[in-house]
Amino acid sequence: MKRYVILISGRGSNMESLLDAGLPGVCAAVISNRPDAAGLASAASRGIATVAIDHRGFAARSEFDAALAAEIERHAPALVLLAGFMRILGDDFVRRFEGRLLNIHPSLLPLFPGIKTHAQALAAGVRLHGCSVHFVTPALDGGPIIAQAAVPVQADDDVASLGRRVLAEEHLLYPRVARWFLEGRLHLVAGRAHLTGEIAVSGALHAPQTDQMRG
Ligand code: GRF
Repeated sequence: MKRYVILISGRGSNMESLLDAGLPGVCAAVISNRPDAAGLASAASRGIATVAIDHRGFAARSEFDAALAAEIERHAPALVLLAGFMRILGDDFVRRFEGRLLNIHPSLLPLFPGIKTHAQALAAGVRLHGCSVHFVTPALDGGPIIAQAAVPVQADDDVASLGRRVLAEEHLLYPRVARWFLEGRLHLVAGRAHLTGEIAVSGALHAPQTDQMRG
């Protein structure tokens, strides 16, 4: 079974959805840059090894990145999943893990990169909002998109209500994508996400729903 590592900074609800999905792999560790991340206790309660590497203990971003990379490599993962990991990773780190480094972002990329995505969506007046899972490249929230789920924006939505509905879709989308990767069906090929095999159609507005990405 392939090994994977999850990186978090806080609550860890996406981490929980990954750990509870019965993925065809072994979670070797959950690593946080914040020792007080609530997700660490949640991972430990599931019997997963947890590690905290406090970014505040490093003088330079590159030193933190190097320590994080060394810790990840110790677990020899086939896949590294950023799940609410709130540190920007440097180019060297990203290149080292490119092709096996995924992120979930709470917007329909390339709209609304960065933070406060639900507020951005409401301010822009979009009628559809959602989440994206993408390969991580040095461009912030700019790597090749693998899959997205959309939710309608309702007239009375605020940041909290919209965020809740997007988060519910995140919890479905990220395990789907992680499963594809662990099954050996998802690769980064020439700067594009390449997916093979059948994809079960779901009721929600998830794309892709068929094997339209093949070829
Ligand atoms: C999620 O919305 C994720 O997409 C974003 O940060 C949030 C983390 O939430 N990157 P959680 O820690 O997974 O509950």
